[in-house]
Amino acid sequence: MQHLVDIDDLDISKIEKILEDAKSFKKKMPPKLLSDKLIITLFFEPSTRTRSSFEVAAKRLGASVVHLDPAKSSTKKGETLEDTFANLAAMGPDGVIVRHSKDETAKILADMDLVPVINAGTGKSAHPTQALLDLFTIKEHFGDIEGKKITIVGDIANSRVASSGIKLFQKMGLDITLVAPKEFMPKTTLKNTPSLEEGIKEADIIMSLRAQLERHAKPIFEDYSEYAKHYCIKKRHLRDNLLIMHPGPVMRNIDISDEVLESKNSLVLEQVRNGVFIRMAILKYILLDSR
Ligand code: CP
Repeated sequence: MQHLVDIDDLDISKIEKILEDAKSFKKKMPPKLLSDKLIITLFFEPSTRTRSSFEVAAKRLGASVVHLDPAKSSTKKGETLEDTFANLAAMGPDGVIVRHSKDETAKILADMDLVPVINAGTGKSAHPTQALLDLFTIKEHFGDIEGKKITIVGDIANSRVASSGIKLFQKMGLDITLVAPKEFMPKTTLKNTPSLEEGIKEADIIMSLRAQLERHAKPIFEDYSEYAKHYCIKKRHLRDNLLIMHPGPVMRNIDISDEVLESKNSLVLEQVRNGVFIRMAILKYILLDSR
């Protein structure tokens, strides 16, 4: 049974196939390849983009989608996550898409091997479909991405987007630099600096990340306007051909200024648009090609 827990589940040929399918779906909507499939979404954390994008992707391919709202589920009566999942699996879906605050959740559910599991973001550790849509967006812009320089800026230590993104970008030959204050910098062997100016000097792409306030045990900075003075991407940082990306949600004028977000350099909404095509390709890969 094929699951997508993190990027390690995909070798380069599978990644390239997903990117290729997404590209062809973007060019021309495919037929309803998944019209006999049923998917359950199980989001224990809030989501605007990922949940909607998966639902749109599934429906574009003709699949049916059922959403279980954990806040109104029997987990509130003390049912364990594993039991909730086993009960959903007993209803015979073709895949379950899960988001959870704990790093290990997608792996625990995948290891039960009852139904294919797709990770829609777990803890600080993994958000593989975001990494794939980010890679697709970069590749769509540059074509050849080998050696392209990406600078990741923000709360890298607490970001699952960064965790999966770094794995994928390394695998695909991008040159990565990390920029963050020491509180947000993970232990790393990658190039890194606390200076935004220094870290973006040679960048082709800046990927800005939000402070993951919900994952901080106690407030790290009292005043994020002070943080923004050093790390907000502003107009003065822009050059022609420098791409600005962000997985969302954006904290405007803390992560990225309004001007930059709305500039021609910004690919933020293109990332969201591409998310649908990438998730269509992932659903095809997990539910159809891997069966
Ligand atoms: N990028 C992302 O995961 O956004 P949501 O939390 O809105 O799904």
